[in-house]
Amino acid sequence: MAQITDQISLAVTTLNRGELVAMPTETVYGLAADAANEAAVAKVFTLKGRPATNPLIVHVADASWINDWACDISTDAEALMAAFWPGPLTLVLPAKAGVSRTVTAGQDTVALRMPAHPQALALLNGLGRALVAPSANKYMSISPTSSDHVARQFADDELLILEGGNCEVGLESTIVALLPGDEPRLLRPGMVTVASIEAVLGRPVAQQSGGVVAPGQHHRHYSPGLPCYRFGANTDMSHLYQAEDIGWIFCGGGQPVAGKLIDLGAEPEGYAQGLYDALYQLDHQTLSAIYIAEPPHGSDWQAVHNRLERAAKPL
Ligand code: TXA
Ligand code: MG
Repeated sequence: MAQITDQISLAVTTLNRGELVAMPTETVYGLAADAANEAAVAKVFTLKGRPATNPLIVHVADASWINDWACDISTDAEALMAAFWPGPLTLVLPAKAGVSRTVTAGQDTVALRMPAHPQALALLNGLGRALVAPSANKYMSISPTSSDHVARQFADDELLILEGGNCEVGLESTIVALLPGDEPRLLRPGMVTVASIEAVLGRPVAQQSGGVVAPGQHHRHYSPGLPCYRFGANTDMSHLYQAEDIGWIFCGGGQPVAGKLIDLGAEPEGYAQGLYDALYQLDHQTLSAIYIAEPPHGSDWQAVHNRLERAAKPL
């Protein structure tokens, strides 16, 4: 514990100086900056190579902190915070007047989340105010789920990385917009499923983007460097089973292949937790391509399919 405390206090000092810190969360590692320091927030965009038009999520240690950022907080928003915070759910709410336009990328809404990872919460409480934190990867590449992934992404940069083990959830948070005059709207699927959100709200969540956008969602990303393909259960891949230079990702019941095989299992939680690490592992081997067997469909698998659609081309 003493070591964790030392790490956190070093990280708090670093953030107070306006520098960035890679912070473990339960979803993916984040590239954190003091949300109240414009120059520090600007460094996040520069270091990631992220366009200034793509807004950042504000991370808080307590639901009361959102009053510094959001207004018109609906009873739906309160119900979702009570049900899922701390945890992998981000809420997009009306931004308070005066909130940094750098953080919101000029929009009049702000994204907020309370992470569940003990070190993220310790860091937030140590600093005493909110942190912006996009996933700690370079723009358009795979989100990191271990400190090692972060170190690979920022090998040429000086960056303090807090060691927080492997992320338990493994995919980025679910994003839901709760804005006046609109129904609750899913902007990015995550492991907090639409079904579980609808159960709390007692009404449907719209899934089509109707005016509100999560700007980052327009881009193809999460891509490994190697060519990456996905195939359905009915596609015969046996002509490639003997090739030694192919990486495979299966979802339980994999085939005997000559290449490198990673089986992420048939449960959505375990699959989600391992997916980015599997992509990092295969991407760093001398292979010619990655082939991914598509998992089943259904609400539990929605986030996994969303990421696979971005990472891999259909066969
Ligand atoms: O799990 C997560 O959410 C991770 C961890 C580190 O917390 N963070 C993360 O951040 O995935 P990032 O920046 O990689 O993705 C945030 C997404 C982007 O697609 C961004 O466009 C969207 O959230 N977003 C942020 N603010 C928004 C807003 N006001 N309205 C709509 N979308 C917003
Ligand atoms: Mg990201």
